[in-house]
Amino acid sequence: MAGPKENVLMEKIVSLCKRRGFIFQSSEIYGGINGFWDYGPLGAELKRNVKELWWNTMTRQRDDIAGLEATIIMHPQIWKASGHVDTFSDPMIDCKTCKGRFRADQTNEIPCPQKPSKMVSECHGEKTAPRAFNLMFQTYVGPVRDESAIAYLRPETAQAIFAQFKNVLETSRQKVPFGIAQVGKAFRNEVTPRNYTFRSREFEQMELEFFIKPDEVVEAICGRVATAAEISKPESEQRAASVSLADPSSISSAGKMPAARSDWGWEAWHKYWVEERIKFYEGIGLPRTTLEEYWQKPEELAHYARACVDILFKFPFGTQELEGIAARSDFDLSQHERFSGKPMGVFDEELRTAWGKLPKEKSDALWRRYYENRKKYLAKMGVAEEPASKDATEDANGLAKGQYIPHVIEPSAGVDRLILALITNAYSEVTETDDKGRSETRVILKFHPRVAPVKAGVMPLLKNKPELVKKAIEVRDRLRPWMNVFYDDAGSIGRRYARQDEAGTPFCVTIDFDTLGEKPELKDTVTVRFRDDGRQERIAISELLNWLLPKVR
Ligand code: GLY
Repeated sequence: MAGPKENVLMEKIVSLCKRRGFIFQSSEIYGGINGFWDYGPLGAELKRNVKELWWNTMTRQRDDIAGLEATIIMHPQIWKASGHVDTFSDPMIDCKTCKGRFRADQTNEIPCPQKPSKMVSECHGEKTAPRAFNLMFQTYVGPVRDESAIAYLRPETAQAIFAQFKNVLETSRQKVPFGIAQVGKAFRNEVTPRNYTFRSREFEQMELEFFIKPDEVVEAICGRVATAAEISKPESEQRAASVSLADPSSISSAGKMPAARSDWGWEAWHKYWVEERIKFYEGIGLPRTTLEEYWQKPEELAHYARACVDILFKFPFGTQELEGIAARSDFDLSQHERFSGKPMGVFDEELRTAWGKLPKEKSDALWRRYYENRKKYLAKMGVAEEPASKDATEDANGLAKGQYIPHVIEPSAGVDRLILALITNAYSEVTETDDKGRSETRVILKFHPRVAPVKAGVMPLLKNKPELVKKAIEVRDRLRPWMNVFYDDAGSIGRRYARQDEAGTPFCVTIDFDTLGEKPELKDTVTVRFRDDGRQERIAISELLNWLLPKVR
């Protein structure tokens, strides 16, 4: 639980976010609505940058991932197949004294009714027994409000990826292993939203479903399955040590990772994605020391998962999950195959050829393993022994024909909690004393330039000198098509720098009398001031864009 120091920090962050236009309470003029938050001008830019960096890293910089943008409301059967209708619930209890409703596992603290970012102790009244509360928001499609019209706001973006798996596979000309990425809103009717934007009822996800061959298929084709320990340890350590702010490769391996090998099974792919995702976080400015890897224990795993690693961030209110990277086996595609009646398997010529050449004892052993896994899955889903054996036999017989259902590794990140992590990590204070001995403490948000909402502040030294203003506007217009810049001519230059520091702007560009040629050798140069240490450098206007671009992308 957070101590007083951490609570003070959280209060400062919440207040800064409102004051500077990062985050507002949704519907604030009506008293707000619990669990919903809006992003103001700076927050919207920050969020857009983060999503774009994820999208570029995951799709455009790779050959093996395609994008998707699906609807929020989908066929309700999707949520039957995924298990959300039956099992996506939290245990809820009622307090008989204060009439409050709480999550049974979180009764010590609740968000303060007056100030939802703050947690307060809950009343000690008698509680009801816990009962399951489904977290999906329910609505009706069309004018008739009956059972047949029930639909849900999606509680995760992942399921649309599974439902569209075949369409994407066929139209993108991908072959397993490959992934499908999606960014979008998701909704969960949390019993107690908490910790500011960390657990909200409407939020955004960045999810990748990376489809891989089952281990039996890898072994049939390659003769072996690489262990997780075999992949990349020394190279990953090297990469982590050499993360550079301006090097675009530092945000992902983008094909530079030791080439994925055809003998990688699910454990190797899982490990690969854990490393890739940590590298992404480092590349956008979250130091490794602020992150933790948590390998879920078998009893903590979701029903579909073989393994799951949570990437945690040290928030002021505790170390909490930013992203989960789950190995989901073939659960999701299998479920959609059973519920929709449409085949979700793939055909692999390489498998068919390899299978025909396997010694009988090898093909028998692989057949048996695949059969057992399929049967275990079907039994877990409540299919009776006889039909389960029959279906599993059919599935295992498919291997000889080159057919199988892909397995999946899912890195699933929450955008809003990442934004909160970036703001928390960037928050710093400096205390400065002027020549009259007066001290002032001010805030600097030390965002990585890649995510910073404003990349450069552009300022004429003085507002009342038309030549300076004209030149500053020229500089602004030169940069503006390429990055978000902010023109500011109001107040002293020191105040303007301080305002940009507080917004997290990494560079300020000042147009002064030397720019106009007062010192002829400095004509058409500007001062660039660095946010984090106040250092200044003189740069030619003609060079400015090329100087800035690699730093902010
Ligand atoms: N798709 C996993 C999650 O939303 O947590």
